[in-house]
Amino acid sequence: MSLDSRGEKARVFFALWPDAANAARMHAIAQQWHRNFGGRVTREDTLHATLVFIGDIALDRLPSLLAVAEGIQTPSFDIDFDAGGCWKHNRIAYLGMRQLPEALQNLHFELAARVGAAGFEIEKRPFSPHITLIRKAACGNATMENPINKNPAEPVTWTVRDFVLVKSRISANGSRYEQIGRWPLLEDKPTS
Ligand code: 2AM
Repeated sequence: MSLDSRGEKARVFFALWPDAANAARMHAIAQQWHRNFGGRVTREDTLHATLVFIGDIALDRLPSLLAVAEGIQTPSFDIDFDAGGCWKHNRIAYLGMRQLPEALQNLHFELAARVGAAGFEIEKRPFSPHITLIRKAACGNATMENPINKNPAEPVTWTVRDFVLVKSRISANGSRYEQIGRWPLLEDKPTS
């Protein structure tokens, strides 16, 4: 839990959280990239894609944020993580996708609209879904020989079946995350 000096605030965001098998695949890619980019590899159990970032809110507003997610009626969908990159401005090496799934875009817009309608300030930057694999990456080391510039041989295909609300706390060892809500998507795909 992220508390300010008066113990009243939490830093929160909605996210997609991979299942253990997909997190392991993503982490393996991160370890491969680490050879080129150095930096700090994201812990396997904290890999995620932010859906809607809200930031610091008063703790007593959490119930209304939890309520916002209740009415979401998005079917389960697939994301093909088949691309990657390294942002020089924040030194993040990330896993991304060539094609933004329509269902993901819709889920983001619907959730963002509801969060906004409930009176929360939301991040206005364009939605850029990604999974941070490495922080403090030496992006300048990217060359055509590096895996980051190629299609990963085996793209990670993740069937997204739910989304979560996460509370984060920054510590010396990186961010600590606590899932405080989880909502299933509509199940129209058989469980694999
Ligand atoms: P990042 O991994 O690219 O840093 C918790 O901090 C999560 O929220 C991370 O996924 C982080 O993205 C994202 N995040 C942090 N600040 C943000 C902001 N201002 N707008 C959107 N996402 C943000």
